[in-house]
Amino acid sequence: MNVEIRRATPADVDFLVELYTHEEVEPFLAASRAKDRESVLAELARDPQDAGTFVIEVGGERAGTLSFETANRRSRIASLGAIAVHPDFRGRRLADEASRLFQRHLIRDLGFHRLQLEIYGFNDRAIAHAERAGFVREGVRRRAYLRHGEWVDGVLFGLLAEEVKN
Ligand SMILES: CC(C)(COP(=O)(O)OP(=O)(O)OC[C@H]1O[C@@H](n2cnc3c(N)ncnc32)[C@H](O)[C@@H]1OP(=O)(O)O)[C@@H](O)C(=O)NCCC(=O)NCCS
Repeated sequence: MNVEIRRATPADVDFLVELYTHEEVEPFLAASRAKDRESVLAELARDPQDAGTFVIEVGGERAGTLSFETANRRSRIASLGAIAVHPDFRGRRLADEASRLFQRHLIRDLGFHRLQLEIYGFNDRAIAHAERAGFVREGVRRRAYLRHGEWVDGVLFGLLAEEVKN
């Protein structure tokens, strides 16, 4: 399976908006995430060291997305967010491979020392994916977020540069 990741460009905006707002994606993304055209375009215009939205491609076809932003410049920490695979491409563990490519890019090319992410406690599928992709479970923000009318946990994961193999 030929999985690649690349920076998104304004030509990807329709794909990204459709994916973020898809009924099998939107309920799992942070409620606060920008999902409309204008906000996605604003995200794409940010400084590439401060933030990035990437497209996952399989055989040259758009299949998903990943993104990061710098959480702490001095300590070189990146927060990852909004990994999503289009439902047409699910079931092949695409996200695992894309996440490993992303980890290497962030650590080797962009120089981050720590990657971190947070997943809603009800999102078992994404939690299993994060563990398979090598992230270490670091804790839980208990009943932190109001999502779908309920207080839900945020499960915290981290990965250090020295933990990323080849
Ligand atoms: C999380 C996500 C990116 C994973 O995509 P993917 O790489 O295509 O994952 P797959 O569909 O191949 O599923 C991987 C495994 O999870 C399993 N799985 C499916 N639903 C599951 C569930 N509810 N709980 C646990 N495992 C589950 C699958 O059976 C598969 O395991 P298998 O290969 O042993 O059969 C994708 O599901 C997605 O886009 N979800 C919506 C957005 C999201 O939740 N993003 C994370 C926000 S932090």
